[in-house]
Amino acid sequence: MLILGIETSCDETAVAVVENGGKIRSNLVASQVELHKQFYGVVPEVASRKHLEVILLLLDKALKKAGICFKDLNAVGATIGPGLLGSLLVGVTVAKGIALSLNIPFVGINHLEAHLYAGLIQNPSFYPPFVGLIISGGHTELVYLSEKRECELLGSTRDDAAGEAFDKIARALDLGYPGGPIIEKIAKKGDPYKIKFPLPHFKEEGTLDFSFSGLKTAVIYKIKEMRDKKLRIPVEDIAAGFQLQVANIILDRIKKAVSLRKVKRVIIGGGVASNKFIKDFLFRNLEDVDLLIPPPELCTDNAAMVAALAYEKIKRGEISSLSVEAQANLGIGINK
Ligand code: KG4
Ligand code: ZN
Repeated sequence: MLILGIETSCDETAVAVVENGGKIRSNLVASQVELHKQFYGVVPEVASRKHLEVILLLLDKALKKAGICFKDLNAVGATIGPGLLGSLLVGVTVAKGIALSLNIPFVGINHLEAHLYAGLIQNPSFYPPFVGLIISGGHTELVYLSEKRECELLGSTRDDAAGEAFDKIARALDLGYPGGPIIEKIAKKGDPYKIKFPLPHFKEEGTLDFSFSGLKTAVIYKIKEMRDKKLRIPVEDIAAGFQLQVANIILDRIKKAVSLRKVKRVIIGGGVASNKFIKDFLFRNLEDVDLLIPPPELCTDNAAMVAALAYEKIKRGEISSLSVEAQANLGIGINK
């Protein structure tokens, strides 16, 4: 079964063709990073216009790369949320148009669920129950997926998302956008133990929620303090110290969730999961856990994860109606 996946929830236009949920025939991403760099963040109006400009061209390329034409497609899946409404609408409308004209099923996909699913494309035997963590630019969500594949929300961020914190620290250090890959590169030259930044403390013990704004503010104050004293800013050490504490926050929540739910398996997805320092840190410190983190190109926004999840949903009979609409605030899991 050949499934077309379309992803336009934020600033990446992505189109993929995946065969039987596991064989990636093409997986293309047209990044808008250069366009949004000057604003240090994604400008929704600019993003949706760009999606509109490139999507049909990218679609042609993805089909060509997969060695197929429209009539070979068996189904189409598209991200319906969460994300920027104008951006989502572009992908959803194109996907519905293809489904309608070819008379094939359309499957609306939750972007967060797709991030979790990305790791399973190349590891189909990684069955639930497991703990899942999505760490991206807009989200930090910790979930539990039961044997019956019911998703329960265990915790989420109370302020900034993990990737957002990376982006804001990079901005404070005048390093550019998006912050994650830049901070990771610069941190390699720094000492993560030279400047110690605080970890968040919650009043409620055992909460599985996250917070990154205290850490972010501490880093920004440190930079300001050094600038005021006209000291040289040790950018490398600050980046390394910040990155280490993000890794510690993530580690702590995973350890708690694993012990609470008595599971051994953990799957992580989202742009921040492509950070090699964090990945190595988690593998080193979670020895008793069977940890799955997909390769970087499947961590950041892509359409292969959308097509693969659509395949899974079709197998379960979960085909969407063409009246399903894009939902900017679509959530993940039941909050117990
Ligand atoms: O999943 P994603 O591509 O898009 C969203 O759904 O948000 O994640 C983008 C976020 C950005 O905040 C970016 O700075 C961060 O992921 N990111 C990273 C790395 N690569 C991307 N954060 C830390 N280290 C990285 N290597
Ligand atoms: Zn994403």
